[in-house]
Amino acid sequence: MTSSPDPGQWWRTAIIDIAPGAIRVRGYAIEDLIGAISFPEMIWLMLRGDLPSADQAALLGAVLVAAVDHGPQAPSIAIARMAMTCGVGVNNAMASAVNALGDVHGGAGQQCMELYAAVDGRAGHGIACDAAAGAEIGVRLLRREHVPGFGHRFHPVDPRAGRLLALVDEAVARGAVTGRFAAIGRAVEDALATAKGKRLPMNIDGATAVVLSELGFAPEEGRGLFILSRSVGILAHAMEQKAQGGRIKGPMPPAVPYAYDGAGPRTLPRTTTKAGVTTP
Ligand SMILES: CC(C)(COP(=O)(O)OP(=O)(O)OC[C@H]1O[C@@H](n2cnc3c(N)ncnc32)[C@H](O)[C@@H]1OP(=O)(O)O)[C@@H](O)C(=O)NCCC(=O)NCCS
Repeated sequence: MTSSPDPGQWWRTAIIDIAPGAIRVRGYAIEDLIGAISFPEMIWLMLRGDLPSADQAALLGAVLVAAVDHGPQAPSIAIARMAMTCGVGVNNAMASAVNALGDVHGGAGQQCMELYAAVDGRAGHGIACDAAAGAEIGVRLLRREHVPGFGHRFHPVDPRAGRLLALVDEAVARGAVTGRFAAIGRAVEDALATAKGKRLPMNIDGATAVVLSELGFAPEEGRGLFILSRSVGILAHAMEQKAQGGRIKGPMPPAVPYAYDGAGPRTLPRTTTKAGVTTP
């Protein structure tokens, strides 16, 4: 005989406790948190279960600031703006945009955190950081992969990456983080430059991966945090597009043609059905 599940155990959470007139997040009364902690501190509390140090909160906040927007040519931003001209609500526009953030657009940060973890794993087996990075990059380039977190189509040097790395270096000097993943990130950049014969500088995703790995976040959390950050840009662009008006805007002005490479004009063949009707 199977016993029916205890309805009180259907959802279990260590995140939040709610009772009539009382809301506690990770044990803290919400009215104590409101006005006392910043949004990055709240994100840390929700994900990690405890409040961050000032340095940890500042680094997380810096990452969230860095990735908010990359202009209307970023598919996620363009989709939010296009959706807004289709008569949908802001929730639909935001969801459409977030749904375009996948392995190729917006996913490099998570992939780069996995890469740094792989280098860390190799280095943990008695191999120096540089050699571990060289080995990992060698394997990936043999598979003809693009190394996530490095190179940029638009920026010869990504202005966000250097600033984030500088903040990590300052935090290392204060003893707030170890600098282990900053060293790994730089070793990967050097190994990639050696293997390719040209420098492909660390981009926003590579630098974000350094910060979030230093802070102890898991790669999948890295993806989620990027989405949180980019959602700010998505919302701002959706609202700006709404204010500008515009109806049914496609990805390019109608005067710009697209390339058709299908069959040439042809005639539908005529067929006679069993009933003797000729179509069309
Ligand atoms: C961002 C990106 C698409 C820009 O690419 P791009 O400058 O247009 O470069 P291409 O894809 O045309 O490649 C040009 C050359 O650089 C190489 N290259 C560029 N980025 C590379 C990377 N991350 N790893 C390995 N090789 C890379 C290409 O293999 C190619 O080499 P080749 O000339 O020997 O064939 C590319 O750097 C990339 O895929 N990076 C990894 C993913 C990533 O971090 N995305 C987030 C960007 S913010």
